[in-house]
Amino acid sequence: TAKLQTVAKAAGKLYFGTATDNSELTDTAYTAILDDNTMFGQITPANSMKWDATEPTQGTFTFSGGDQIASLAKTNGMLLRGHNCVWYNQLPSWVTSGTWTNSTLTAVIQNHCSTIVSHFKGQVYSWDVVNEPFNDDGTWRTDVFFNTIGESYVPIALNAARTADPNAKLYINDYNIEGPGAKATAMLNLVTSLKQQNVPLDGVGFQCHFIVGELPQGLAANWARFTALGLEMAVTELDIRMTLPSTPALLAQQKTDYTTVISACMSVAGCVGVTVWDWTDKYSWVPSTFSGQGAACPWDQNFVRKPAYDGIAGAFQA
Ligand code: G3I
Repeated sequence: TAKLQTVAKAAGKLYFGTATDNSELTDTAYTAILDDNTMFGQITPANSMKWDATEPTQGTFTFSGGDQIASLAKTNGMLLRGHNCVWYNQLPSWVTSGTWTNSTLTAVIQNHCSTIVSHFKGQVYSWDVVNEPFNDDGTWRTDVFFNTIGESYVPIALNAARTADPNAKLYINDYNIEGPGAKATAMLNLVTSLKQQNVPLDGVGFQCHFIVGELPQGLAANWARFTALGLEMAVTELDIRMTLPSTPALLAQQKTDYTTVISACMSVAGCVGVTVWDWTDKYSWVPSTFSGQGAACPWDQNFVRKPAYDGIAGAFQA
């Protein structure tokens, strides 16, 4: 049967990829599938390039986890997505509980972004420079960055990243912006304004953490509003969870839903690729976050392909 990177590439997309994590790489049955670059043309580290992992104390950087993922991408001939520079979550306490002024926190952001993006320079296809800046109602998330600096923390981070690696595609990434609505409008307004001000920005990441049977309507039309600005876009963290236990009917609906997402990417020329937020239910983040839910990935916890797999392959081949 068709391998997913092979069919994505044949369809004119750059990649089909997956998140992975350092702790998973000792599982040889897992890596036997992960390392197949006809299946995955791109990987994203789920945790090891985040702020708490890379700058746990101010000015002291640790790259061992990120380097392991970057070297895996290189060995396997896969694209690498950097994830991420500035995010409200998984911040070390020195950032969240520091006493900052606009200018001291600006310097901290610039140093963090430029150091991590420089470290991986030449190895990264795209960076999630800013992750999840908005609340679901489209207002700004009132994290330490926004509260101290205001919305200009976004161009500060993007400018630092561009200087550090001029060839990396710089993204803003978020969830619940996939279909039209207040949050998508807020993102559209932000990126429109950044483009007007010539702030370096190449793409928007649509995470796509979805629920079986509850996909937003109008994915492709919404995404096309962003690519019309001259930006590329990507599906960056796709998974489609269900209330457990899984049943044949739920798995069939999940196949339909995966098909819908891939088809939407197919119909938007600026959609460069699709990344699943890990390919196997064994390592999905879902059950630990949403009690009683799971089975969100295209492979089950025993690494057996689910109907969703055929939905993905079929949509790339349609
Ligand atoms: O590293 C510690 C370890 O030392 C400790 O023993 C263990 C005990 O729980 O926790 C480990 O940290 C966990 C970390 O993953 C690394 O495994 C955290 O508890 C856990 O909360 C964290 O979850 C990650 C989550 O982001 C945090 O928000 C998930 O793995 C990761 O898949 C998930 O990814 C996010 C994206 O970055 C942004 N978009 C949403 C997506 C899903 O939440």
